[in-house]
Amino acid sequence: MVREWDPRTAPSEEIESLRATLNAAVSIDLPDDPPWRGDSFREYLSVTMPGERRVCWLAESAPGAAAGGEPALGQANLLLLGDIGVLDLTVRPDARRAGLGRELLSAAVRRAFAEGFRSIGVEVVGDTPAVEFYEKYGFRCAFVEIRNVLRMSTVDWQRLGEMAGGVGSGYRVEFHAGGPPEEFYEAYAEAKEIVRDSYDLGDLELRPSSYDPERLRASLATLHARGLKPYIVLGVHKSSGKVAGLTEVVVPAQRPTRADQYDTVVVPKHRGYGLGRAIKARMLFELRSAEPRVTEVQTWNAFENEPMLKVNAELGFQPDRQWSEYEADIADLARLLHVNGA
Ligand SMILES: CC(C)(COP(=O)(O)OP(=O)(O)OC[C@H]1O[C@@H](n2cnc3c(N)ncnc32)[C@H](O)[C@@H]1OP(=O)(O)O)[C@@H](O)C(=O)NCCC(=O)NCCS
Repeated sequence: MVREWDPRTAPSEEIESLRATLNAAVSIDLPDDPPWRGDSFREYLSVTMPGERRVCWLAESAPGAAAGGEPALGQANLLLLGDIGVLDLTVRPDARRAGLGRELLSAAVRRAFAEGFRSIGVEVVGDTPAVEFYEKYGFRCAFVEIRNVLRMSTVDWQRLGEMAGGVGSGYRVEFHAGGPPEEFYEAYAEAKEIVRDSYDLGDLELRPSSYDPERLRASLATLHARGLKPYIVLGVHKSSGKVAGLTEVVVPAQRPTRADQYDTVVVPKHRGYGLGRAIKARMLFELRSAEPRVTEVQTWNAFENEPMLKVNAELGFQPDRQWSEYEADIADLARLLHVNGA
């Protein structure tokens, strides 16, 4: 039985039931990944950026089963932003191949179609059944990335120290826990915008980005409210005071042993001075003392982003698995799934 579900008001037992389901899926699909902890888990599921909405569905064997402590059979949630929806869908491993994935997908498509959304995007983890599932329903691969993982225990700290110090004398490297200081918001957003304009991100960009100071402020507030703690290293161009490079790492309260590397950006005219390597190396040093529980850092890179892959390899990141963004038109999905009104 699939029903719409609101994690903001759901009983704690249902939140726990969903967490148990996600952990059952992690243990089968991504066995090296850490399990989800209960810390700020409700907030993680409920809070969105201003202007965005998340609609959620829960599947259970009978009404009240999740509230009674049984792990949910599955879940779907659809983040609605602009005219696209970003889908996240999980079926408990022992409940797979019984049509539940299709049922949850249909619920999300019905809603997105009724609200006039144009397309759905989804992150598909390589070497999991999700690849066949989404391809079966006509999703197309829009963008392929590779996940890279760095184990802190393998870092050569002396070599890393050389990298952190190997930066041109025109730059200053600064570390900030919690986010960049207010006075850097403008320069920070500007650096991200310049680099975005020089990228070809393919057809789809699913990650929230912060290209103006107001959006940056909202994005930081959202991260904190979801239990995700950001750490920033800035490369500041001394003579202009501009942000020449930045790197962002986030430590989730729900998975405190595995940090996420978000954006690393070096503004084109400041490339070639060792900034990319230096700011990422400095970040690892800071992370080691600020977050001693972190044992791994994960990051996603496009195959064609050779400079970043090279820096990551020097730091000790190892390629893990393919992680692709797929998309489909809602109207096509609605027809295929015989959703009412299509
Ligand atoms: C992808 C997923 C949602 C599918 O759920 P499901 O309930 O098994 O899907 P359904 O039973 O509705 O399958 C619908 C169709 O998808 C395709 N499909 C689903 N799983 C498949 C598999 N393992 N191999 C081949 N085709 C598959 C089939 O065509 C299937 O129809 P069929 O059973 O009539 O042949 C489920 O495997 C899942 O939750 N995976 C999570 C993977 C993931 O992202 N993990 C990482 C985060 S933990």
